[in-house]
Amino acid sequence: MNTRGGTATRTAAFSRPSGRLRLPVSLRLPAHRASSATLGAAYPFLAGRPCTTGALVGMDAMTGGPFCFDPWALYATGELTNPNVVLAGVIGQGKSALAKSLAVRAIATGRRVYVPGDPKGEWAPVAEAVGGVVVRLRAGGTTRLNPLDAHGADPDHAHGPRLRLLTALAETTLRRDLRPAEHGALDAAMTTVEHRPQPTLPHVVAALAEPAGSSRRAGGTTTSALAEDGRDLFHGLRRLIRGDLAGLFDGPSTQVLDASASMTVLDLSGLGSNDEALALAMTCASGWLEHALAGATAKRWVIYDEAWRLLRSVPAVRRMQAQWKLSRAYGIANLMILHRLSDLDAVGAAGTEARALADGLLADCSTRIVYRQESDQLAATQTALGLTAPERDLLPALGRGTGLWKMPRRTHVVHHHLTGAELALFDTDAAMREVT
Ligand SMILES: Nc1ncnc2c1ncn2[C@@H]1O[C@H](COP(=O)(O)OP(=O)(O)OP(=O)(O)O)[C@@H](O)[C@H]1O
Ligand SMILES: [Mg+2]
Repeated sequence: MNTRGGTATRTAAFSRPSGRLRLPVSLRLPAHRASSATLGAAYPFLAGRPCTTGALVGMDAMTGGPFCFDPWALYATGELTNPNVVLAGVIGQGKSALAKSLAVRAIATGRRVYVPGDPKGEWAPVAEAVGGVVVRLRAGGTTRLNPLDAHGADPDHAHGPRLRLLTALAETTLRRDLRPAEHGALDAAMTTVEHRPQPTLPHVVAALAEPAGSSRRAGGTTTSALAEDGRDLFHGLRRLIRGDLAGLFDGPSTQVLDASASMTVLDLSGLGSNDEALALAMTCASGWLEHALAGATAKRWVIYDEAWRLLRSVPAVRRMQAQWKLSRAYGIANLMILHRLSDLDAVGAAGTEARALADGLLADCSTRIVYRQESDQLAATQTALGLTAPERDLLPALGRGTGLWKMPRRTHVVHHHLTGAELALFDTDAAMREVT
């Protein structure tokens, strides 16, 4: 498309005291022609684009035209290097509302949505409205997930994924990386229990306390040495059986994940404000996800709302990153919701492996959506996302529902439009407005 910078002739008009309009001087300026790509680079806010693919998000605040988004389509055309999205903004700006709209509108075009952890319980009504599934996990509840049953259908390939999952769970409860000897002890315990038709965490914990004599993977270690190596693991994993998370992950699953469901939400609001419980629950649920998606073909959003709470757990971030690496193979677009980019700093100090993981997550998000930011976050946001100065200066002035959409080759300021039905369904402000 060629876009004209203006009419070929610009005529300057001057008003004379008599009130008549006269044209005393004509300025003849050459027309300026450039391709859409050039204009898009020179005037990123002004170059409109046709809205032909993807779900309608809202209005492009600079062109007044519609703005659509489909990460798979943009990835297919090479505009995005990956389909993942990071969305950051201060509280109450409409981040979750945008994620819910993207989800619901994508479902209308045959996509699926998975919310592997909903700490506020605000996604359940959305899932119910689209005929999806809500899995509610709470202490004393009736729902139980077995993190080890996900790969039960294929025992030959189950050992590695189960071991990685157990490692992440143990590292979360112990709040440290496992030592080499502990990896060996966990490996031996898993080997002991995996011949069972339905291995569970209590089986693993029992095998850690009393290692079997003939464990092939023990590699010549004595059983008493294995028991010694697995002592901390035993106590760490026992928390999932006897501690505050008892009854949630310590037996056969009461629910099967249906990969064909339009939306599946893991409602974790019953776990309260315990970030560690949240990380453990999401780690357990990630085993499910891997299993369910292995044979699935539909494109899928995986939405990490309130991801900043997960970023406090290094093993959870490590797992998240491993799953993101697989996202293209599974046709997944991940959406990670933060308050500010500096939430990523919570993972670890600069130079550490943990921090590299967090930076990797951000690097794996080709689309960056920034809602309003506090002024003390502007410099860090600009650096982290590579924003230009005018883009940075916009951030503190953005209103609710309006965000800066930064993609590798173009930037938009988009006002997200909610329909009346969506407004009612996505409302998280009701409690604030109630008059008592
Ligand atoms: N584009 C929009 N137009 C009109 N109202 C909106 C829009 N986006 C969000 N809202 C309303 O603003 C309120 C807060 O939105 P939302 O819960 O999505 O914010 P949030 O950024 O996710 O907040 P938090 O950080 O607390 O999770 C909701 O009641 C929602 O209905
Ligand atoms: Mg929210």
